Amino acid sequence: MPSLVGEIRTGLRSIFKSEQGEPAIFSGSGTGAWEASLVNTLSPGERVLSFENGHFARLYAEAARQLGMQVDEIKLRWGDAVTESDIEANLGPEHRAVLVVHNETSTGVTTDLVAVRRGIDRTGHDPLLLVDVVSSLGSIDFRMDEWRVDVALTGTQKGLMLPPGGAILCVGPRALAAAEKNRAPRYFYDWRPVIRDMQQGFFPYTPATLLLFGLREALRMLLEEGLDNVLARHGRLAQATRDAVRAWGLPLLASEAARASNSLTAVVVDKVDSNKVVKVAAERLNLALGVGLGQLRGRVFRIGHLGSLNELEVLATLAGTELALKYSGQEIELGIGVAAAQRFFAECV
Ligand SMILES: Cc1ncc(COP(=O)(O)O)c(C=O)c1O
Repeated sequence: MPSLVGEIRTGLRSIFKSEQGEPAIFSGSGTGAWEASLVNTLSPGERVLSFENGHFARLYAEAARQLGMQVDEIKLRWGDAVTESDIEANLGPEHRAVLVVHNETSTGVTTDLVAVRRGIDRTGHDPLLLVDVVSSLGSIDFRMDEWRVDVALTGTQKGLMLPPGGAILCVGPRALAAAEKNRAPRYFYDWRPVIRDMQQGFFPYTPATLLLFGLREALRMLLEEGLDNVLARHGRLAQATRDAVRAWGLPLLASEAARASNSLTAVVVDKVDSNKVVKVAAERLNLALGVGLGQLRGRVFRIGHLGSLNELEVLATLAGTELALKYSGQEIELGIGVAAAQRFFAECV
């Protein structure tokens, strides 16, 4: 156990880009990781600032509310990123923490955390910065230490390429200190015993052992390919997907092309029901697309391109998506998106 846990701690620090962050692993999922990030750093009644720019940002704020925190939730368009001016205009000395979802999986939009950090610094306030990296870690550039993120959290099932079942956090020194003082009741998600035991190579209770073996392997795979190469690969796969969507004549949900996500692409349809596209893709083509979540239901479908994926798999996905659109009644010239993606891949060589 100690060598397994030791290798995982070191590997996670590399992937989170943190020299001093303490990894904490719980059985759970991203939602559990949200709860751990909140109950360890904040006391009931304390104020936090959050930005509702999608389904998961909304739920992270909801978790904080349910746990007794006072949440100032700024409504943005679903499809917007959080900007420096959003932070500057809304952050006050009363806020103990800022909650940000790095990559909003419901909208396919990535927030620029450098801008978030700059916005916080410009106000002169010093809240904790809690960042959900569920669909960005291992797919989109994330730098915990450089961007002074206090807590970063994820699940095992996205960029880490594993089955669901693990909630993973990386906890910076200021968040570790906050956990010693805060009054929130917590037991299972108390990260103190977990971090203490993981430092010795153990867990305070039964860990999801099989997931740990998988995690060690996933980290080895990412580090063998080289994190920069992994991120560049996702950049290429995402650009090819966006080129295909443009060729189909369909809009991205992302308000700004520069903030469109490298781990998934959210596509807007107005002539057909997006639920139908997803259903047809699953039933007739055995292709898993994502539905529109929350207020995006029926209007948006999502193409995932994170994790262990290559050019050929993306081309097959795009070909299948074209067929699913056609079968659903969307006017589309078959092959046009696939060709656009192929051209992009050929240019990259
Ligand atoms: C950005 C983001 N945060 C949180 C979650 C919730 O994670 P889970 O479903 O693992 O609880 C998800 C799930 O897809 C997500 O995409």
